[in-house]
Amino acid sequence: MPPRFRWTTFDLNGRFPAGWQRDIRAVAAVADFREFPRTPVLSREAPEVQRISRGRVHADQVRQHLPWLYRAYRGEFLELAGLACAERVAAARDDRYGVVLNVQRGTTMRFECHVDSNPLTGLLFCTDHQAGGELVFAHDATAADVCSVERDCSVIRPRAGHLIFFDARQHPHYARPLATAHDMRVVAVMNFYTESCPESTRPRELNKHLYGDD
Ligand SMILES: [Fe+2]
Repeated sequence: MPPRFRWTTFDLNGRFPAGWQRDIRAVAAVADFREFPRTPVLSREAPEVQRISRGRVHADQVRQHLPWLYRAYRGEFLELAGLACAERVAAARDDRYGVVLNVQRGTTMRFECHVDSNPLTGLLFCTDHQAGGELVFAHDATAADVCSVERDCSVIRPRAGHLIFFDARQHPHYARPLATAHDMRVVAVMNFYTESCPESTRPRELNKHLYGDD
């Protein structure tokens, strides 16, 4: 049995630049929307699911268009990450996966069911949703598809301005589809590392898959 899943929430409303949600939505609207192939090593999708449709704003675009978010990842958010973790926490040195935006539009997109390789993930919700778009974490470390995750899980509803931290290396998780066709869900996702699980442990297959590394 993995440790019981838990997470830490910081409500950062009022701490961001004026119009931050509008700025993020504008960048998210031109995300790279397509079917993404399942992730090697970390995917926990059923075998027949080979592709999952969603949008991604890559780290270099976040840095260029949302510089305050890039700075916060290495500044205020990193400090808060330290409060959420017993170990000393570090931001990623590799800028390709420091902060990215994950985007869902309409009712057909969702985020792939997977486990994390990094020991601490930070997630800033940028949009609110009455229903749909929840983040769902399995209590069972062996859950290997969406149905198994849903059988016994913790469910987090997105609240704009809430920054959460969690360790989901042993808790398969995914984001549910939205409930309405014209809705858009945006989250900023951040990787953090610790001394016991440093950035050098990131699977090589992952960088090869995402960036074509050898
Ligand atoms: Fe994750």
